[in-house]
Amino acid sequence: MPPRPSDHSELREPALPSVPQAPPWDVHRLPRAEGKCFLVTGGNAGIGYFVAEQLAGTGATVVLGSRDPAKAEAAIASIGSRVPGAEVRHLPLDLADHASLRASVDALGLDRLDAVVHNAGVALDRPPRRETADGHELMFATNHLGHFALTHHLAPLLMATPGSRIVTTGSFAAKSERLDLDDLRSAHDYRPKRAYARSKLAQMLFALELDRRLRAAGSTTLSVLVHPGGALDSLTPSRPPIHVRTTRERLSHLPLGLVVQGKDAGAWPAVRAVLDPSVRGGQMLGPRAFGLRGTPTTEPLWNHLTDTTVAARLWRASRDLTGVDPTFTTSR
Ligand SMILES: NC(=O)c1ccc[n+]([C@@H]2O[C@H](COP(=O)([O-])OP(=O)(O)OC[C@H]3O[C@@H](n4cnc5c(N)ncnc54)[C@H](OP(=O)(O)O)[C@@H]3O)[C@@H](O)[C@H]2O)c1
Repeated sequence: MPPRPSDHSELREPALPSVPQAPPWDVHRLPRAEGKCFLVTGGNAGIGYFVAEQLAGTGATVVLGSRDPAKAEAAIASIGSRVPGAEVRHLPLDLADHASLRASVDALGLDRLDAVVHNAGVALDRPPRRETADGHELMFATNHLGHFALTHHLAPLLMATPGSRIVTTGSFAAKSERLDLDDLRSAHDYRPKRAYARSKLAQMLFALELDRRLRAAGSTTLSVLVHPGGALDSLTPSRPPIHVRTTRERLSHLPLGLVVQGKDAGAWPAVRAVLDPSVRGGQMLGPRAFGLRGTPTTEPLWNHLTDTTVAARLWRASRDLTGVDPTFTTSR
C-alpha cells in the first residue's frame, strides 16, 4: 500500500513563522516614550490631569495647555511629586479665545509634536446661555471650535512628526444627540445639557472627518476618538491641592463605582490612544464595561458618527466660524 502523504514529513505544511502576539494593553505598564512630546489641553484638572500624570510616567515631555497658570503650576508640582524626573511644563491656552491660539502654539517653542490630546471641556448644566467674545455659544466654541482651530495651528508640528496623533475626547452624552447645523450657536431654545451633548458630538464628527482627510492627504498623522465613560470626582483619588476627596465622600460614593469610575481611569482611553502602536486612525476607544467604566478598548462607531454628509457640513461651518481650515497636505 502506498504511504499516505501524511507519512512524509516533506509533504507536510511548512511551519509558519510564529507571529509575536502583542501583550494585552496594561494601563499600569505603559510603553516608554522618552524623547516624545505630548500636549494635553485642560491638563491642569480632572481627566486631563491624569492623562498628563500617566503620560509623564512614560518619560515623555508633557505640556499642560491651561488658561490658569496657578492651576497649571499646582498640577506640575503634583505630577513632579509622583513621577520622579517628570518633564512637565505649562502652555497658556484659552480655547474659548480663538484669536489667541496661534500665539499659544508659537509659545510652545517646538518644531515637532508627537500627540495632542483634545481633552479640555466646559459643561454647563443650567442657563443662562453664555457666549464668547466672538459671539459663539461657550460650550460649542470651547469644546469644538477651539480644538478645531488649535488643530489648524498645530498641523505643521504634527506633520513634522511621522505617526503623530490627534486624540479627541467625545462623550456618551453625544450618543443620543443630533446636531442642528442651522443653529450651531444654540441661539434658539437654549438647553444647556443638549448644547453640551451637541458640542461633544461635533468633536466626535470632527475627529472622524479629520481621519478621512488625513488618509486622503496620505498623512501618517492619526486622528483617534476616545471617550472616558462616566468619570466622577467623588471616585477619583486625591491629588491635593488640585483635587481632594474626603473619606466620607469616598465611602458614600462607593456603590457608584460599580457603574462608573474615577477620572484617573477616565484618562485610560486617551493615554492608550496616544501610546498604543496598534491603534489606528478613525478608531474609537472607551471603557470596556458598557462604555462606562473599565480598561480601555476599541468600540464600534455609533451609527450617527458615520454620517459623512453631516461631518462634511460641520467642517465647512467650523471653517467659516473660525476662519481657519486644518490642512495636512505638504503644499500648504
Ligand atoms: N467626567 C466625565 O464623566 C466625562 C464624560 C464624558 C466626556 N467627558 C469629557 O472629558 C473631558 C474632561 O472632562 P473632566 O470631567 O475632566 O472635566 P473638568 O474636571 O471640568 O476639567 C475640564 C478641563 O478643561 C479646562 N478648560 C475649560 N475651559 C477651557 C478653556 N476655555 N481653555 C482651556 N481649558 C479649558 C479646565 O480648565 P480650568 O481648570 O481652567 O477650568 C479643566 O482643566 C471633557 O472634554 C469632557 O467633555 C467627561
